[in-house]
Amino acid sequence: KWDMGHFLKEQIKKIREQVGDGKVLCALSGGVDSSVVAALLYEAIGDQLIPVFVDNGLLRKGEREQVESVFKVHLKVPLITVDASEHFLVKLAGVTDPERKRKIIGHTFIEVFEQEAKKHDGIKFLAQGTLYPDVIESVSVKGPSETIKSHHNVGGLPDWMDFELIEPLRELFKDEVRKLGLELGLPESLVYRHPFPGPGLAIRIMGDVNIYDLDLLREADAILLEELKASGYYNKTWQAFAVLLNVKSVGVMGDNRTYDNTICVRVVEAVDGMTATFAHLPHDLLERISRRIINEVDGINRVVYDISSKPPATIEWE
Ligand code: XMP
Repeated sequence: KWDMGHFLKEQIKKIREQVGDGKVLCALSGGVDSSVVAALLYEAIGDQLIPVFVDNGLLRKGEREQVESVFKVHLKVPLITVDASEHFLVKLAGVTDPERKRKIIGHTFIEVFEQEAKKHDGIKFLAQGTLYPDVIESVSVKGPSETIKSHHNVGGLPDWMDFELIEPLRELFKDEVRKLGLELGLPESLVYRHPFPGPGLAIRIMGDVNIYDLDLLREADAILLEELKASGYYNKTWQAFAVLLNVKSVGVMGDNRTYDNTICVRVVEAVDGMTATFAHLPHDLLERISRRIINEVDGINRVVYDISSKPPATIEWE
């Protein structure tokens, strides 16, 4: 096991030697790895870092604000937030196929990221949160020459952006990255965050993605996370989220008949996400989650709990 204080000092020295007076571009996703990379680089090279956070409009409730507060307010990092939500939503309009959603989101991200990069002179490096398991995986699958841009969310950057790579986490496992994050002053809420897919809420809405459904899903999802955190189950599970099924069903509200949407609650336990079992949550917790979502989110009259494991089901619905 590494001594993180020592590792941090060594890395800072190494990064300074590698970078000289060049500038380093870094995309933040709000996840643990890219956050640790950005915090580490800022510690090493200060304003030579160009940290870019793209708001694709597919994030969870309050996620952008949380990332901004950690970096801008708490760590004083001059984070650049690009609000591209409308751009993403226009491109996604009417698209229902999961793989097409992923492709569109990937391409649009590259487009937006490239546009931002063009505004800055002197970029020589691109920082990435590649971890040791990623290194192993890409070497064995693709051979060393392709290890680079192949990580599943990035990839396909235009030729002019073929910057030299900085990958300060490539010798670390996830638990070590978390320790390093704490050492760098990142809050536990970020360091112990569940994984969140690059395509975000777009693959948690069955069918086409629009602003109305995104808001609906965000509200339900936020209630779920709030209840899981309050009951201590957030830290005992691998992932937890709400899915908007786009299945309408009949309900009653007072004297009226309703015909509204269904939310599926998905909470799983896993070690690495390759296999997973649904979490055996206490029934009173499930009841509270269901009652709150139905009472507090307009347009939802039914909540179901996903009791499938992986395999044969996947963790995500799309
Ligand atoms: P599945 O649904 O395949 O998910 O059981 C396994 C893990 O991968 C995440 N996931 C993704 N992450 N881009 C990502 O960055 C994606 O397109 C994507 N699809 C699934 C999922 O959240 C789970 O942690």
